Amino acid sequence: MSAIERLCDYLPLARARLGEPLWRYLQEGSSDQAIDANARALAAVRLWPRPLRDLSGGHTRLQLYGQQLDHPILLAPIAYQRLFHADGECASALAATAQGGQMLVSSLASQPFEQIAKAGHGEQGRPWFQLYWQGNRERTLRLLQRASAAGFSVVVLTIDAPIKRSSLQLPNGVSAVNLDAVAPPEPVDPALSRVFDGWMKQAPTWNDVTWLRQQTKLPLLLKGITHPDDADQALNLGCDGIIVSNHGGRVLDGAPASIDLLPAISARIAGRMPILFDSGIRSGHDLFIALALGATAVLIGRPFIWGLACNGALGVAHAVRLLRDELEMTMALTGCAQLSEIGPHCLADRAVVP
Ligand code: FNR
Repeated sequence: MSAIERLCDYLPLARARLGEPLWRYLQEGSSDQAIDANARALAAVRLWPRPLRDLSGGHTRLQLYGQQLDHPILLAPIAYQRLFHADGECASALAATAQGGQMLVSSLASQPFEQIAKAGHGEQGRPWFQLYWQGNRERTLRLLQRASAAGFSVVVLTIDAPIKRSSLQLPNGVSAVNLDAVAPPEPVDPALSRVFDGWMKQAPTWNDVTWLRQQTKLPLLLKGITHPDDADQALNLGCDGIIVSNHGGRVLDGAPASIDLLPAISARIAGRMPILFDSGIRSGHDLFIALALGATAVLIGRPFIWGLACNGALGVAHAVRLLRDELEMTMALTGCAQLSEIGPHCLADRAVVP
């Protein structure tokens, strides 16, 4: 294996290992434009070097929902991780824990929740659970109860992907093992809309968020917020946080880069709840920008899967460590000893200099 010095060094290795159809499924977006937008917007931001500061005692620790994390890097919920490595979600959970971070376990996990929760049970507490709406309240509640019984510590409802085409036929032996078998959807009367009268009838609404809030005492976050009004609404309905995300550019053609949406949302929320961020984080530079623009922590999706594909739990742990090292280097060069010192003043093109 050639030297892996930065997180992005995993990309070509994972590509070679996974083969073309699986690689395309992992990397694909709703269009290349949506993925490029995330990368371009992050690359356009300029950091301001601040040498000569005393950074002794510097660290990247934070408290999130009562959990003590060593760094602000969480593993995003990614479906069917046994597609990428036989050890699947358990390997990712183990790695997240070993690195003092946290993982979000997808509703579409390919291993039993109970096993993943056990593998990811570290000092910082059990993994978080990502909930996909299950078409109605009864089925959704059953899934939530199963996840809660497995001991997951935070619930994250993903709201941005009620309709999504998948290009992948799952191989034998990989499936969403935690979901009840579903009867195939009733065919929609051809006179009606397949979208409005079919798929969207299965999608959650704000009323369902109100209902969901009453079903669990665990912290509840909404993932896929892109508008300040929706962020406000989440807060008003009693949610404990949001994840600003465009699903890694996988859902809506022409969606803006998530990083471009973060400042307005962060200004609206004004510290009243944590804001997490994902979509396009590939380096410590990217991660630093998200923190500077108001994120409390970030999720990475595809990059940790590159590590998983190359080397199972060790690959994921290494990917997280590399990103954390890159963040620490960026903090050192911008004169920040702690996460709380990172802000818009660290960005040369956003800072207001008196
Ligand atoms: C995802 N994502 C996702 N999100 C979610 O809430 N539940 C899920 O099951 C999945 N599954 C999934 C599979 C694959 C293959 C990808 C690439 C993405 C979205 C994911 O959580 C996250 O929002 C993005 O991946 C973040 O963008 P980056 O870091 O991949 O650019």
